[in-house]
Amino acid sequence: MQTIQVHDKKFIPYITAEEINSEVRSIADRLSTDYAESKPLFIAILNGSFIFAADVFRALRIPAEICFIKLASYKGTKSTGEVITSIGLDADVFGRDVIIIEDIIDTGKTLNQFLPQLEHQQPKSMKICALLHKKECTVFPIHIDYLGFTIPDRFVVGYGLDYDGYGRNLNGIYQLEEQ
Ligand code: XMP
Ligand code: MG
Repeated sequence: MQTIQVHDKKFIPYITAEEINSEVRSIADRLSTDYAESKPLFIAILNGSFIFAADVFRALRIPAEICFIKLASYKGTKSTGEVITSIGLDADVFGRDVIIIEDIIDTGKTLNQFLPQLEHQQPKSMKICALLHKKECTVFPIHIDYLGFTIPDRFVVGYGLDYDGYGRNLNGIYQLEEQ
């Protein structure tokens, strides 16, 4: 992996595709065991989670459904503090075992806003699966049931994550170079 440029910023290699793949497999194995009997519903939060969600979903060995919602709180490399829903939930979650898939949990604001809306629809259970967690940025504590990596408070791109729209197609994860 090499240092890369996205727009005006440089990013350095941080997590390799192999390391991601190994975490994805271990998460999918745990999910396949934990939900062997229940035909769970995965809800992936767009845009950032589309690649992680697809890889986890493909690695499952159980019958499962997936749907997508679109929430966003980031502009550039900073959180705006405001969560906007632009594609809503079209699945019926009542009585279902639901697993939310996020690319990254930062302040926790996005999920802190979304979880009560989902709870209102009375799923049987609700768990969180995230590839990355910026633990030290927590403002709204979220219990993450299936987590790939805990990372420091440094902006990252790749594997679905973007800097103003670009960088999502990188196979590994790259960290913003310190100024
Ligand atoms: P909150 O603060 O609501 O943030 O937990 C979650 C959402 O913020 C975005 N996010 C990032 N996106 N690189 C990105 O490309 C990052 O380092 C980063 N940190 C947060 C992301 O959309 C996530 O769903
Ligand atoms: Mg996101």
